[in-house]
Amino acid sequence: MDHEVVDLSVNLGGLALKNPVMVASGTFGYGKEFAEFFDLGRLGAVMVKGVSLVPWEGNPLPRIVETPAGMLNAIGLQNAGVDHYLKEDLPFLRQFDTRIIVNVIGKTVEEYARVVERIEAQEGADAYEINISCPNIKEGGISFGSDPALAAEVVKAVRSRTRRPVIAKLSPNVTDVTEVAIACQLAGADALSLVNTFLAMAIDVDRERPVLANVFGGLSGPAIRPIAVRMVWEVYRAVDLPLIGMGGITSARDALEFILAGASAVAVGTANFTNPYASLEVLSGIQEAVRRRGPYREMIGRAHRWQKERSIDD
Ligand SMILES: Cc1cc2nc3c(=O)[nH]c(=O)nc-3n(C[C@H](O)[C@H](O)[C@H](O)COP(=O)(O)O)c2cc1C
Repeated sequence: MDHEVVDLSVNLGGLALKNPVMVASGTFGYGKEFAEFFDLGRLGAVMVKGVSLVPWEGNPLPRIVETPAGMLNAIGLQNAGVDHYLKEDLPFLRQFDTRIIVNVIGKTVEEYARVVERIEAQEGADAYEINISCPNIKEGGISFGSDPALAAEVVKAVRSRTRRPVIAKLSPNVTDVTEVAIACQLAGADALSLVNTFLAMAIDVDRERPVLANVFGGLSGPAIRPIAVRMVWEVYRAVDLPLIGMGGITSARDALEFILAGASAVAVGTANFTNPYASLEVLSGIQEAVRRRGPYREMIGRAHRWQKERSIDD
């Protein structure tokens, strides 16, 4: 299969990856369940499920709904907290030759900072992905990621506590995603990942009430891919940071859309639930594309050339 070794290495604002394929936070746990299927060392990085300062219980059931081309989830970022993560999950992941990106969640700026401080004390985390889609309890529940000033505050607080790369994960639930992207760049982010899930809901028509106990959930999967690609395209033009593209990737062709739109790396999310090998299939398809189309790094953002060429022709 790998008759010809292709160079897929890429540097994301100081985070050197052997290949650009990652798995998205919350869709891969902390790796244990998937390690039964394949060697996690084949992935460029694992983005772990959100880690908070103290354990979070998550939302009441039901918290998952299937939709025609994706799913709605309202898990509520359930997790056992940073101490448990450091003791149980990080040591497991460290056995594999892959990068570990810790997804950090918090309800106040201080909480994000304290999670990072705890993790800093230990070896093994390669970068932080700051999930700014959490509701800020101090600001009455508004998500950090929907306000550029708040997003910048979180990024600054984390930035001041670490020299490891800081990736801000953008929420798509905004009118103009570039505003938050620019704010995160100015606040010192090394890279951006986009997108998180889209706020959505489903109604149980027979019972005449919302399906999810939480009423609202986040839509993910193939249904969101075209919107996510559009957002990567826009952010690529607005900031000067490497981007990690995600949202409905199930195949290498899906991933190539993000890469050509400007993503330096990609993450496979919801597809992991239906096909545990999805990320590996994406990886081998990208290898194949590089064999045919030339160097990986030259593919990043190449669809933007189309407009330049067109304006020259016009
Ligand atoms: C069940 C579930 C749990 C998730 N948990 C997290 C999380 O803990 N932190 C985070 O930043 N994103 C979380 N996400 C968002 C995904 O990482 C990803 O951004 C989103 O689902 C879009 O990609 P996809 O369509 O390929 O799933 C979660 C998504 C799903 C479906």
